[in-house]
Amino acid sequence: MAIVRSIPEGGNWKDVPASIVCRRIETIRASYERGEGSRSTYYGRLRSDAPSYTINTYFSRPGNGCHVHYAQDRVISHREAARFQSFPDAFEFRGSKAAVGNQIGNAVPPLMAYQVALQQGEPGCFVDLFAGAGGLSLGFRWAGWKPLVANDFDKYSLDTYSANIHDSVVLGDIRDDAVREEVIQKAREARRLTPDLPLLILGGPPCQGFSTAGKKRSMEDERNHLFREYRSVVDALDPDGFVFENVLGLLSMKKGKVFQQVCDVLGEPMADIRADVLKSDQFGVPQRRSRVFVVARREGQSPEPPSPVTAFPALEAAKRGVGVTPGAEAAIGDLPAIGPSEDGCQMALADPSSNFQRLSRGLIAPDEYLDVLKSQISVATEKQLSLIG
Ligand SMILES: C[S@@+](CC[C@H](N)C(=O)[O-])C[C@H]1O[C@@H](n2cnc3c(N)ncnc32)[C@H](O)[C@@H]1O
Repeated sequence: MAIVRSIPEGGNWKDVPASIVCRRIETIRASYERGEGSRSTYYGRLRSDAPSYTINTYFSRPGNGCHVHYAQDRVISHREAARFQSFPDAFEFRGSKAAVGNQIGNAVPPLMAYQVALQQGEPGCFVDLFAGAGGLSLGFRWAGWKPLVANDFDKYSLDTYSANIHDSVVLGDIRDDAVREEVIQKAREARRLTPDLPLLILGGPPCQGFSTAGKKRSMEDERNHLFREYRSVVDALDPDGFVFENVLGLLSMKKGKVFQQVCDVLGEPMADIRADVLKSDQFGVPQRRSRVFVVARREGQSPEPPSPVTAFPALEAAKRGVGVTPGAEAAIGDLPAIGPSEDGCQMALADPSSNFQRLSRGLIAPDEYLDVLKSQISVATEKQLSLIG
């Protein structure tokens, strides 16, 4: 608590006075002095006016990122982390606190997924592999796409998925032939009801194997080959295309060879494949999170990625002619003040003071939220551009 209290809004481990003895901070300080990186998010405290940093699966630890509340002396709660990920408050996570933390940190922000989904043409149906809690699926559902079946080997993730997205799920390891067969059978059966709708495979194989952040970043990591299982489901279901999401580490691993291999294997049955890096803070999400989206089509060209609607800070937004990314206070400022490790879910919320809060509370729909942002663009931009001169 002494460490947390000593960090001002927007500060980090560098603000912790030497009088507070902490071996981990001493190690960080020593490596910083050796020029081995600033680790500027470690022991970070959020800024009320800025989007959060990436919500990882360690947001309940102050030393593993910028996870301290901007105004209260504690790390962000699970509900607050879910807000930064743009999950609505009505979305109910299942499982232990640790399991829920993983589900939240691993998810694609639904609001970003929604904007990717809107680009995919006429809404059809989808199969979600490595579905997790269903962040990617939720965005597609908001855009009118119908879930057929989802797979994950984590029971709690699928409990969450069934409670919030759709109850046709297959629990099990996708490397297991019987599990893959069940996914394929369930997808085929469900598809019989809507045979003419476009079909997409969605999925984000786990990031640890590719991630630049983890230690196990190697070609040998078993998980790096999960895209081959993805390919075998693609072959069996013959979809119109796929949307494959992953961490940025995928692009640089083995000097780009792994990414090339993924594109070669997954792109082979497709007419077109494209990869784009999307930053969630450019899509109205109050969080900085960059991810690679690989989108392919069996026929014709893969759709373009969505156009950015926000940027941060305000000057950057004005230069780009887009709205300003909501900051932490706009994201979570209406949630109750709580103590460390409390969750506050039974406590009353303050009146919403931002459109992002209205979106989170289900008072406005995602398209209304984006429309408001887009309508604010020209007003904000004209005013700010005149200030810039
Ligand atoms: C990055 S998360 C997916 C997040 C999800 N797309 C979302 O938006 O919420 C990856 C998921 O893959 C699952 N997974 C990892 N290896 C798997 C395997 N061999 N078979 C099935 N699921 C697996 C993990 O349990 C995890 O939920």
